[in-house]
Amino acid sequence: MTEEELKLSYFKTEPIPASILERMEECRRKGMLVPDETLIKRPSQIAGIREASRINAAVLDEVAGKIHVGMTTQEIDDIVQEFTHAQGAICAPYQFEGFPKSVCTSINNEVCHGIPARHRKLHEGDIINVDATTIYKGYYGDASRMFMIGKCTDARRKLVEETKKCLEIGLEAAKPWNTVGDIGAAISKYARSKGYSVVRELGGHGVGVDFHEDPFVAHEARAHTGMVLVPGMVITIEPMINAGRAGVVIDPYNGWTIYTRDGSDSAQWEHTILITETGNEILSY
Ligand code: MF3
Ligand code: CO
Ligand code: CO
Repeated sequence: MTEEELKLSYFKTEPIPASILERMEECRRKGMLVPDETLIKRPSQIAGIREASRINAAVLDEVAGKIHVGMTTQEIDDIVQEFTHAQGAICAPYQFEGFPKSVCTSINNEVCHGIPARHRKLHEGDIINVDATTIYKGYYGDASRMFMIGKCTDARRKLVEETKKCLEIGLEAAKPWNTVGDIGAAISKYARSKGYSVVRELGGHGVGVDFHEDPFVAHEARAHTGMVLVPGMVITIEPMINAGRAGVVIDPYNGWTIYTRDGSDSAQWEHTILITETGNEILSY
């Protein structure tokens, strides 16, 4: 077998169960957007993505145990890189489309894609998102968490907690034969009820054999729209929730970091999940 044939051999050795193919066909007949068969992960792939996601969660546990007031975001980058490499794994962000560091660290009004730096210290009262993506044996796991540095204002604490709730509400909607739009509809309804806004320019994504796969998972969407969720799909849910307005701007100097346009605070939590026959399984625990 050539390498290419080997890579695609799972199509034959691990076929999609007939019952799932039938249900997909039924969805197609109803005019729903149905995933390509390459987006339905097979048992051997799921095993690999599960391992990568477990290491990814351990990376964030390591950060959680060491993050403190006065630390620099470069030190977080060092921890992530060293721990990841000690597991025999790789940091996906490093040199991804030119990203210069191994992890994203986004503070306060930074929405995502903050770049670790020696001059950037964590101050008492800051909120920070640490977003790590791990590659292990070619498979990807992607997750992020918020950390509150020392004593934060009630407003910041509430934003962090309610954003975590947004992720949990998204997880409840991530059931087989729902659509990706159901996830964004549930999240945006809740966020708006709390007076927050949802970032629209960035979202969750398929993940596992590549960093970013289809579908795009909008966190503000209409129910019953977008791609249908099929058992075997692996996606992230990663709502970015702003305390103020939804608009964002990109850093003109580094071309990466996304900020809230109005300068308000933003929070984000992310998990990698597997759509199962009955609901979903969080892989990045
Ligand atoms: N981890 C981010 C996500 O959740 C992507 C970061 S891309 C990088 O999709 F290049 F900034 F690392
Ligand atoms: Co992601
Ligand atoms: Co991520």
